Amino acid sequence: MTADRPAASSSNAGRAENTGTVPARPGNSPARPAIEDEARSAETGSGAEPQFREGAGLGKPPAGPSFLQMWADLGPIGRNPETGGYRRYAWTGADADCRTWFQEQAESRGLAYETDRNGNQWAWLGDPSQGDAVVTGSHLDSVPDGGAFDGPLGVVSSFAALDELRARGARFTKPLAITNFGDEEGARFGLACVGSRLTAGKLTREAAYELRDADGVSLPQAMEAAGYDPSTIGADPERLARIGAFVELHVEQGRALALSGSGSAAGSGDAVGIASAIWPHGRWRFDFRGEANHAGTTRLVDRRDPMLSYAETVLAARREAELAGAVATFGKIAVEPNGVNAIPSLVRGWLDSRAADQATLDTVVTAIEKAAREYADRHGIDLDVVRESFTPVVEFEHALRDELGAVLRERTGREVPVLGTGAGHDAGILSGSIPTAMLFVRNPTGVSHSPAEHAAEDDCLAGVQALADVLEGLACR
Ligand code: GLV
Ligand code: MN
Ligand code: MN
Repeated sequence: MTADRPAASSSNAGRAENTGTVPARPGNSPARPAIEDEARSAETGSGAEPQFREGAGLGKPPAGPSFLQMWADLGPIGRNPETGGYRRYAWTGADADCRTWFQEQAESRGLAYETDRNGNQWAWLGDPSQGDAVVTGSHLDSVPDGGAFDGPLGVVSSFAALDELRARGARFTKPLAITNFGDEEGARFGLACVGSRLTAGKLTREAAYELRDADGVSLPQAMEAAGYDPSTIGADPERLARIGAFVELHVEQGRALALSGSGSAAGSGDAVGIASAIWPHGRWRFDFRGEANHAGTTRLVDRRDPMLSYAETVLAARREAELAGAVATFGKIAVEPNGVNAIPSLVRGWLDSRAADQATLDTVVTAIEKAAREYADRHGIDLDVVRESFTPVVEFEHALRDELGAVLRERTGREVPVLGTGAGHDAGILSGSIPTAMLFVRNPTGVSHSPAEHAAEDDCLAGVQALADVLEGLACR
């Protein structure tokens, strides 16, 4: 049994009624997870009748729901009314509802919808076989009790940006696709970016088949239960070969934009920025094994209590991260037998650690493991440490990044801030295979992976405009 069970095996786990109404705000949530006035029906486009310029004689392109309407429709899916957080785990009912929403958005705009061999969703404008496609999108799954913006902002903005381009009468010279990459957060199977890793060949089919959730359900079993064929999962080089550029818009998960100096109209930073790099990061599982015994009758000197070594290791992680200028977090724990009156036999803790460079990250994790072994020895505890995943530093392609900067400078008349991040993204995984870039939308508090994650409506709409500008620059020249 584990203490943290983000997803049940039932295909209905996490499902919320999609009523289309905005749920009541919980006590501990921010102003609101949704965007102000989300239900209002104003369109994000210019309001002028869009002229169809995608091809001769095809008539008017279907207009999709506005950004605010899409946001309102997606909002209730997988939202826990008690915490206000989202529980959209891979291949559960909430995930299925998000996928249905994506397909509806694609179809309502007349885009060609498909899922790839790894269960990632695609909505195509133009012929994919033409090659040099411009792709944008993000993910719709969440961490346990995640915020509304991490992932969905990128997907919703992608559809809204396409609508904006159509409203501008943009002439597409390249195929354009919008994606929803599956299982980005890794909340259920422990490995982040499963959909993009599989596609890029960074996760083998064999290794993917070994992934299991807290209930012992394997990834292929979960895919099958959700109606997907797991037998074809694996690298998809043909698909990647057809893509010329991937751009992911994402809510910022820090306050660099809010603190940036160049000044918006309000003089309080920039609404949109461009990503420079992603810190190297990884997840390590620490298994501390001791001896289960009675909490009331076992003398302190007779105990082999793995909780003690675990607790000391948590403190060591904080200390080592501080010393190195890195970050280290034990955010998930499983205890066996997990009884209030029993000394545990097993404490399993997952370390997430990240640093600006590889050498620093290695130093921090090595020091934490060394300290853990010393504490374990002292208490007669057996310790196993397993690296479950690792993503090296990602430096986004300079040419594409500079192109984004030039497009946005031309449109706004200002330099757009370029910033690094400690958060992982599908764009980072794909960057080893195709040119990728990211846009960040200001997050006033910097809070993320929490129901309090937030971005202002105006900033989100500025993000849509910036994404439309970028896509126009890349796909309409
Ligand atoms: C994904 O959001 C990660 O950085 O963990
Ligand atoms: Mn995330
Ligand atoms: Mn994300």
